[in-house]
Amino acid sequence: AAIEKGGYDHFMLKEIFEQPQTLFDSLRGRLDAKSGTLTLGGIREHARLLSQAKRIIIVACGTSWHAGLVAEYMIEELCRIPVEVEYASEFRYRNPVVGEGDVIIAVSQSGETADTLVAIESAKEKGAIILGVCNVVGSSIARISHAGAYTHAGPEIGVASTKAFTAQLAVLCMIGLRVAQEKGSITQQRLQHLIDELDAIPEKVATALKLNDKIREIADKYKDARDFLYLGRGYNFPVALEGALKLKEISYIHAEGYPAAEMKHGPIALVDENLPVVFVATRDSYYEKVVSNIQEIKARKGKVIAVVTEGDQTIRGMADDIIEVPASDELVAPIVSVIPMQLLAYHIGVLKGFDVDKPRNLAKSVTVE
Ligand code: G6P
Repeated sequence: AAIEKGGYDHFMLKEIFEQPQTLFDSLRGRLDAKSGTLTLGGIREHARLLSQAKRIIIVACGTSWHAGLVAEYMIEELCRIPVEVEYASEFRYRNPVVGEGDVIIAVSQSGETADTLVAIESAKEKGAIILGVCNVVGSSIARISHAGAYTHAGPEIGVASTKAFTAQLAVLCMIGLRVAQEKGSITQQRLQHLIDELDAIPEKVATALKLNDKIREIADKYKDARDFLYLGRGYNFPVALEGALKLKEISYIHAEGYPAAEMKHGPIALVDENLPVVFVATRDSYYEKVVSNIQEIKARKGKVIAVVTEGDQTIRGMADDIIEVPASDELVAPIVSVIPMQLLAYHIGVLKGFDVDKPRNLAKSVTVE
């Protein structure tokens, strides 16, 4: 078993550390930064149809649903096509309006999640075009989809999803770019810029992983907290949700993820000197707003752990703990800013003595209702 884990204590840690490579694998053969081109063989014949979609609906569960939320922001911005993100379990039972002209993107690591599978089966019968973004080649969801793109993250053993998530973000971004290109809703300059940003992502993730020791110390400091709050805005809002989910899954600490501004409508009531609040606050178009949200938490004596862009001085002066990650365009920033979320949850789970690879009550793939 030690050999299988490649020298790491757990599959989860091994998979977290594999991400520079798995991201490289997800991008390989698809992205060519030199010529500024993007090739996604699995959607080639459908690119035109996708660019003409009236609406895109993303269906998924769990961590894959969080990837879908990031994709909503990316695709609406790049393609100017309305996007909705649905929990597969809700979508399949609520008699949704769906049919011709709609594109459904099913995001699933395993490709076997029962709710996601049934949701796309019925949408397909109603005439929607189904795109699968799966990790497992030949899985049920991949097979039933009209088209798709594999994430190529390799087998994920840890129950809490890590490398599959970042691969999903990379692939969903490439799909957004490809459709935007087909539609003409992106300039060549912006396209080239985002291709370059994606191309640089494996390297930036490798840099973020060097924070491992520092994050273990932070984990040790906060591991006995009863609750955690995770906040972010814009592209980093789903990263806050994912951070909270990871912590719940493997450390059994109650955690809530929220859009940073929305906390004023409830969660702020929980803030006192015992509540650690994790801010995903990298430099982007929401930055100034997030800084005021941090001030609001500090004014109520909450403990602030902030993930910021390298060199940030403003937040350094306010937060209790600072985690600096390399700068990137806000569209792809979640791929980097989620790394500290994964490591923080991992270390807290391990420090508390739990089996992080097999958390209680959870299954790697939920193939029953
Ligand atoms: C389970 C797993 C999660 C995963 C979710 C969706 O709950 O524990 O890690 O995100 O299912 O799985 P899928 O295979 O469809 O991405």
